[in-house]
Amino acid sequence: MISKKISITRDTFDQLILPVYNPVSFIPVKGKGSRIWDQEGKEYIDFSGGIAVTSLGHCHPVLNKILKNQSKILWHVSNVFTNEPALRLAKKLVSFSFASRVFFANSGAEANEAAFKLARYYSCKTYNTKKNIIISFYNSFHGRTFFTVSVGGQSKYSDNFGPKPKGIIHASFNNINTVKNLINNNTCAVVVEPIQGEGGVIPASISFLKELRTLCDKYNALLIFDEIQTGIGRTGKLFSYQNYDVIPDILTLAKSLGGGFPISAMLTTKKVASIISPGVHGTTYGGNPLACAVAESVIDIINTKKFLSGVEKKSKRIIRELNIINKRFKLFTEIRGQGLLIGAVLKSNISCKINEILNFSFLEGVIFLTAGNNVIRLAPSLNIRERDIIEGMKRFSNALEKCLL
Ligand SMILES: Cc1ncc(COP(=O)(O)O)c(C=O)c1O
Repeated sequence: MISKKISITRDTFDQLILPVYNPVSFIPVKGKGSRIWDQEGKEYIDFSGGIAVTSLGHCHPVLNKILKNQSKILWHVSNVFTNEPALRLAKKLVSFSFASRVFFANSGAEANEAAFKLARYYSCKTYNTKKNIIISFYNSFHGRTFFTVSVGGQSKYSDNFGPKPKGIIHASFNNINTVKNLINNNTCAVVVEPIQGEGGVIPASISFLKELRTLCDKYNALLIFDEIQTGIGRTGKLFSYQNYDVIPDILTLAKSLGGGFPISAMLTTKKVASIISPGVHGTTYGGNPLACAVAESVIDIINTKKFLSGVEKKSKRIIRELNIINKRFKLFTEIRGQGLLIGAVLKSNISCKINEILNFSFLEGVIFLTAGNNVIRLAPSLNIRERDIIEGMKRFSNALEKCLL
């Protein structure tokens, strides 16, 4: 059989892929560290990190080696068996956190789905079936399964899919009085992102998180931290809750955990986990040896004092560069976030739309994300090099010159 040479372009996406995305016009074909290259060989500096995922950059040599080695040993066994990489990874997650039990899944939404089901199950079994209300926050994002998207606080993502799951209510982020008005003995859980990522890189205040903890204790509700975007070094600590001295009952991780290999985890205490028995929840791929071997290595590399303080230094450097850019172009009202999850909030009266700024940036060879309506989001690799930061910001400046002046 003669194989036809297939030409792959951005148009191929429109012809073949369900249009739930609108990818940019170029197709990345290669990545190394914080740089990627498209089909034409054009090079870009990547401040998107695959939406806060490629925590160690593209094709990190240690992760490459681990993945290659594991691929020769064992790929998949299912949860009929356990496996060594999953147990090693669980050991590390438990020893570095408040948690005693781990559930592995494949995506952020699945980790949150497990967290919300666990909170409901725990409360129904421990207290009564009426104790099933989940309080979440407007503007939050917890994934795209129907349960997680309904818990999320942006109805644009959950409308028009038919009847939504009941027992979910929303309070205002960083406004404890709205939680006080809603919480009662029927509340089973409060779920919060320590920094609302997708919603606009909005950090929770320490006092807000502390008061949530107090309210949850008062009403025997579980406090769930969605650290899918903030976890595994992104904020300068291995887990973002360690910045606040507030310990959740359940914590979810994904994104940076696998450095690009799909894996997620839900962590909880022995007490909460004690209600679970075989068959209550599950997934075929969760705890896959390939994913767990990579994630173990990601944690080994990130969880050192030197690496985590490097995140802080890189964060300061990027913010310094953004402030210099802002002095010249006067386009941000605020630069916020923590560690390497940074949001630059655009003024409402600038002459360019946010997507135009991103497109001009692509043309100059630098990649950013958006968040909320008007925030340029940066979630680069945690090991991005200083020279990539400087060069990337130079390219951003060039893009703004073309876009705004
Ligand atoms: C805070 C948060 N939770 C959950 C999710 C969903 O993760 P996934 O897309 O892997 O399902 C995301 C993804 O952006 C997220 O930022």
